[in-house]
Amino acid sequence: MDMRNDVAEILYTEDQLAEIVARMGRQISEDYRDKNLFMISVLKGSLIFMADLMRAVTIPCSIDFLSVSSYGAGTTTTGAVRILKDLDDSLEGKDLLIVEDILDSGVTLSFLMKNLSARNPRSIRLCTLLDKPERRKVDIHADYVGAQVPDEFIVGYGLDYAEKYRNLPYIGVLKPEIYQN
Ligand code: IMP
Ligand code: MG
Repeated sequence: MDMRNDVAEILYTEDQLAEIVARMGRQISEDYRDKNLFMISVLKGSLIFMADLMRAVTIPCSIDFLSVSSYGAGTTTTGAVRILKDLDDSLEGKDLLIVEDILDSGVTLSFLMKNLSARNPRSIRLCTLLDKPERRKVDIHADYVGAQVPDEFIVGYGLDYAEKYRNLPYIGVLKPEIYQN
């Protein structure tokens, strides 16, 4: 069984992703030159993006990971978000960059912005590899966006459907028949 057969269309190849991430890394390195960059990866979807992005950043940075409740195996949000795995240290005086795989309804990131802002960081910004603006339910936009994607279910490069397809090296649209039965 080859996962690649479940992909209807490739949206971004490995080479295109490398180019997108390099551009984002350059911009972040410039914007945070005189700051105390602290990159926070939202698990598990941003794992691969985070690993590549931090290596495209040329200034010193520290990192941590957190994870929030997901919506289970479904493809739409329930609206309730909880922190399942929290950060190790205080955020005081740090310039936070939240690193996400995809901004969809915006419910997850608006919850995280509120939660992390309350911990007195010096600044807080959002970085998402993908943006699906058509599906937004709350008013939120990312400071750094890799690429916009259509309102379809996206997998690969960290993004999953029911915990599968994260290890596809490119980003593609999942065939609807995979999740519609
Ligand atoms: P939001 O709270 O609706 O913005 O959803 C954000 C989270 O939902 C992301 O971090 C993903 O884990 C998941 N998600 C949303 N859309 C997709 C998709 O097309 N493919 C895979 N995961 C998705
Ligand atoms: Mg996810």
